[in-house]
Amino acid sequence: MSYVYDAIIVGGGVIGGSIAYNLSKRGGKILLLEKDRLASKSSGAAAGMLGVQAEMDAEGSLFQLARKSREMFPKLAGEIRETSGIDIELINKGMLKVAINEQQQQEYKRLIAIQRQSGEQSDWLTGEEVRRKEPALTDAIKGAIHFANDGQVEATQLTLGFLNSAAACGVVIKEFVEVFDLQLSKGKVIGVVTNEGYFASENVIVAGGAWSNKLLSKTGLELDIYPVKGECFSVVTQSQLLTTTVFSPSCYLVPKKGGRIIVGATVKPRTFNHKVTVEGISLLLEQAKKLMPSIIEAEWERTWAGIRPQTGDGLPYLGEHPVYKGLFIATGHFRNGILLSPITGEIIADMVEGKPTSLNLKPFRVGRLIKQLT
Ligand code: FAD
Ligand code: GLY
Repeated sequence: MSYVYDAIIVGGGVIGGSIAYNLSKRGGKILLLEKDRLASKSSGAAAGMLGVQAEMDAEGSLFQLARKSREMFPKLAGEIRETSGIDIELINKGMLKVAINEQQQQEYKRLIAIQRQSGEQSDWLTGEEVRRKEPALTDAIKGAIHFANDGQVEATQLTLGFLNSAAACGVVIKEFVEVFDLQLSKGKVIGVVTNEGYFASENVIVAGGAWSNKLLSKTGLELDIYPVKGECFSVVTQSQLLTTTVFSPSCYLVPKKGGRIIVGATVKPRTFNHKVTVEGISLLLEQAKKLMPSIIEAEWERTWAGIRPQTGDGLPYLGEHPVYKGLFIATGHFRNGILLSPITGEIIADMVEGKPTSLNLKPFRVGRLIKQLT
């Protein structure tokens, strides 16, 4: 049996979710297919940092896109709460990028100057000021940049918030439905083949994260995309040990509701193996102890891992397939898919609608880094 939809989204992570949410606000019959559970892959593993300034250089197209996306969160949080009842737990307490040696201090002071030039708030705190703000941090910290505008959300809640809001506006969402093939005809996409049969649409959006190439290779092209595993653990403390997210090159500490702290993350390229290793977690714990010695008194909660989608040039793919009309791609958000999800959803919904954009999306076009398969 075949059904006709105005658009079909492949992938029930934060990117597919945001696209579904944005398309749902514009009307039409939309279908989202997820081969596993919703939010079960990278999006459910993320720490939820909105680290525009902590994670990125202050220049370049991705930084500009990320700034716009970060600005969208306060309104989005209200909309999602209203439509789905889900609290995305947006916290705007800033982030501290801590320096533990002289070299980092110099480097971070340069970064402050660059970020201020691009209009971002970025302030240097001495070691004493850092500890006054966050007494649980070690006195080995020489100083830190305080990014007042880099907040955080609860990543699974955000993903489910997008998806539940989309469903409330009529999007049909199916879990455990894998898209095996794309149906292509005369230079355009016309549908998808799944374990639940064929679904027809002249607009298909591939938001399959690190698994996107498995499907796209059916079009004779492959993206320059590869998996990067990240492991995390969480602890719970009786009283709140930390209020601000702490970011360092070796690990980060993200304080959540109810005394929970997420500690992340390892970076292991080119593996789809999502098992948590003793090596990964013990390395993270060592680093976390160096930043906040009293973490050893906390109660252990759990460990997990996720697979980030990374690209050859570090930029996501956002756009239409270079050969097949109506086939859109939104993947490769690597470490910042949670942060970039609101703007990605809006961009792709505009493309599907054929609406012009004022953004410069050239750096993200799909045709820039592709491999022709023989
Ligand atoms: P995914 O969440 O992986 O979703 C893709 C979905 O598509 C999957 O559910 C998959 O099952 C489905 N799928 C694939 N192929 C098919 C198919 N053929 N048919 C049906 N379904 C299919 N980002 C931030 O912004 N801030 C952070 O603090 C942060 N922390 C992170 C920490 C860790 C440990 C990790 C691993 C990532 C982190 N990230 C963070 C990155 C962020 O999680 C990713 O960039 C983002 O989740 C990618 O979203 P996605 O929807 O593209 O991919
Ligand atoms: N952005 C944090 C991570 O990917 O680990």
